[in-house]
Amino acid sequence: MTISNIIGAVNVGIIGMGKMGEAIAKGLLKAKRYKIFFHEINRERIEEIMAKYSQVKFLTLEQLVDTSQIIILAVKPQDLSQVLGKVNSVQKKEKLFISICAGISTSYLAQRLPRARIVRIMPNMGALVGNAYSAITPGKKATPNDIKLVKEMFSTIGKVDVISEDLMDAVTALSGSGPGYLGYFLNALIEAGEEIGLGENSREMVLSCLVSTARIVQELNISPEQLVTMVASKGGTTEACLSLWTESNFKQLVKDGVNKALGRAKELER
Ligand SMILES: NC(=O)c1ccc[n+]([C@@H]2O[C@H](COP(=O)([O-])OP(=O)(O)OC[C@H]3O[C@@H](n4cnc5c(N)ncnc54)[C@H](OP(=O)(O)O)[C@@H]3O)[C@@H](O)[C@H]2O)c1
Repeated sequence: MTISNIIGAVNVGIIGMGKMGEAIAKGLLKAKRYKIFFHEINRERIEEIMAKYSQVKFLTLEQLVDTSQIIILAVKPQDLSQVLGKVNSVQKKEKLFISICAGISTSYLAQRLPRARIVRIMPNMGALVGNAYSAITPGKKATPNDIKLVKEMFSTIGKVDVISEDLMDAVTALSGSGPGYLGYFLNALIEAGEEIGLGENSREMVLSCLVSTARIVQELNISPEQLVTMVASKGGTTEACLSLWTESNFKQLVKDGVNKALGRAKELER
């Protein structure tokens, strides 16, 4: 039976209910089309999830693999090999597996799970607030229906694009890590505000600037450079700051950092 033939609730099993697993579960629950099961080794985390979401059920790995039509692999990449070995030993029927693990190729997954149709996906932490960016890439055996279903599922936590697998490391280095980069930059701005006397107000100001900056660029459909020109009048305060950053080659430093992240993603690729 193909996934598109599933009428009513779709059983989704999540292996590894950490930050991303929970964010995905939250999005899926809102869609009301999915029944969520999870398997997790961290006892405290199991209790925390069960206390927070009465609709989400804990299962043993074997029960989860049996019950779920779709299985999401959401453990850390270094824990994946062990999980794949166990899953393969208990899996009886062919199923759709979705991996969100950074750096794990569809061919590696196909070799470890011979009875799996695989879709690889790189979401980001935006999932926590239903505003993720997710790039998906199908494995060789994934059907058009599988891709449609995965797009539908991950649309519950934000925007989804299908991309070719050779760009997955670049996606990881830009949008996967991106919330971490912007969090770092936010922190620097907030500290700067505090140091010039703004105290607790600094955080609100910086957050408001970040949200409105993204909205202006998106909603007015202008380039970030146009926005810079709108704000930085000649001889003014913004220009004073930006001239120092330009002299210090800040833009190049940002690009070098993203390239370093890309190198690391390639090193981790299996
Ligand atoms: N975080 C991000 O921004 C982000 C973005 C895109 C993709 N990803 C990918 O998402 C995956 C999960 O990341 P995360 O940040 O959600 O990690 P996380 O918070 O550490 O969650 C992973 C969870 O899996 C549990 N686990 C470990 N081994 C297990 C096993 N054998 N069976 C069941 N559960 C097991 C961990 O328990 P313990 O804590 O006890 O080990 C933990 O609760 C990673 O592969 C990562 O590459 C993450």
